[in-house]
Amino acid sequence: MSTVLRFHSFGLDHLAFDKQSLPAVGPLDVHVRFYAAALNYRDLMVVTGQYNPKMELPRIPGSDAAGEVLAVGDAVTLFKPGDRVASLFFQSWHDGEIRNTTGKSALGGPIDGVFATERVLPEGGLLHIPDGLTFEEAATLPCAALTAWNALVEKGKLCAGQTVLLLGTGGVSMFALQFAKAHGARVILTSSSDEKLARGKELGADLTINYRSKPEWDKEVFELTAKEGVDHVVEVGGAGTLPLSLRAVKTGGHVYLIGVLTGKGAGVDPTPVLAKSIYLDGVYVGSRAMFERMNAAIAANKIHPVIDRVFPFAEARAAFEHLQSGSHFGKIVLSLQQ
Ligand SMILES: NC(=O)c1ccc[n+]([C@@H]2O[C@H](COP(=O)([O-])OP(=O)(O)OC[C@H]3O[C@@H](n4cnc5c(N)ncnc54)[C@H](OP(=O)(O)O)[C@@H]3O)[C@@H](O)[C@H]2O)c1
Repeated sequence: MSTVLRFHSFGLDHLAFDKQSLPAVGPLDVHVRFYAAALNYRDLMVVTGQYNPKMELPRIPGSDAAGEVLAVGDAVTLFKPGDRVASLFFQSWHDGEIRNTTGKSALGGPIDGVFATERVLPEGGLLHIPDGLTFEEAATLPCAALTAWNALVEKGKLCAGQTVLLLGTGGVSMFALQFAKAHGARVILTSSSDEKLARGKELGADLTINYRSKPEWDKEVFELTAKEGVDHVVEVGGAGTLPLSLRAVKTGGHVYLIGVLTGKGAGVDPTPVLAKSIYLDGVYVGSRAMFERMNAAIAANKIHPVIDRVFPFAEARAAFEHLQSGSHFGKIVLSLQQ
């Protein structure tokens, strides 16, 4: 029996715990006991109905979890009982380019997620976690970390000496900071909070800008880069920040479209994209093969995810409210230990 968090209608008020029996373990399936799960901004959008108001309910949210293999099907070759594993965001995206159908296999969206103590998943939908990470740390990798890795490393081919601009101090940005520093890049970090910027500096941010006190932060970025602009922007803000990001990037630079924290839909002037030959790249998490490469880099560089706070599973609603407040720095985790 698995303890699951589920919602029958949209809204945090409708989150409730439930018991669910597990399906039989098929030949290619793996039965996992999850010990930790991590929240993403997307989970908040899913539960509140902003992600897909037509989503079929009830639904178990959550794309990110880590735990231990309890049992494997007869034909499973990748795992054995006792292995430490994490979930793969897109259960069907193993390698190569993203496809039209990839989105249908996203955990905690079109299919039930992993805010659950136990699940049976296909072996292709799990990965070994890096040695040296706790379950709580490993649970933060499937969405935010892989998205930052896909943008800067897989798509961006980030090089030492290049400059990376990061918006805010949420989950994606803090992984991007750690990956950028591991590659020898220079990081400019923005935040609404001077205290968070100071913490960002401790993690290696070279230059910081408070986007509240400097709302025209693109001009600051220009000054800080000798009027050149940055090589890469990890764009998590969406409609409210994209025009500034397009001004802050250098000619021939990369802007990775990742998030919509400030909203969607507003018109954006395409002129700078063509005039500056900007590479505008949509990023949607990443594949299993990218996750494997990211894990190798995490292990080699002894990277530990930045965890803001761990909530007991029973306080999942408070964890969502903490995410909603925007007061966090890095990742928010649920402990699924009982
Ligand atoms: N495309 C994908 O595959 C993918 C994957 C993961 C996430 N996302 C999306 O990316 C976005 C970020 O996700 P996340 O999990 O990192 O979120 P998060 O952890 O909730 O990040 C929240 C932080 O973003 C910062 N922020 C908010 N408004 C901002 C603004 N106007 N300018 C700059 N920073 C701002 C704030 O940082 P400060 O408090 O420091 O100001 C806030 O604390 C979300 O929209 C999410 O849905 C997309």
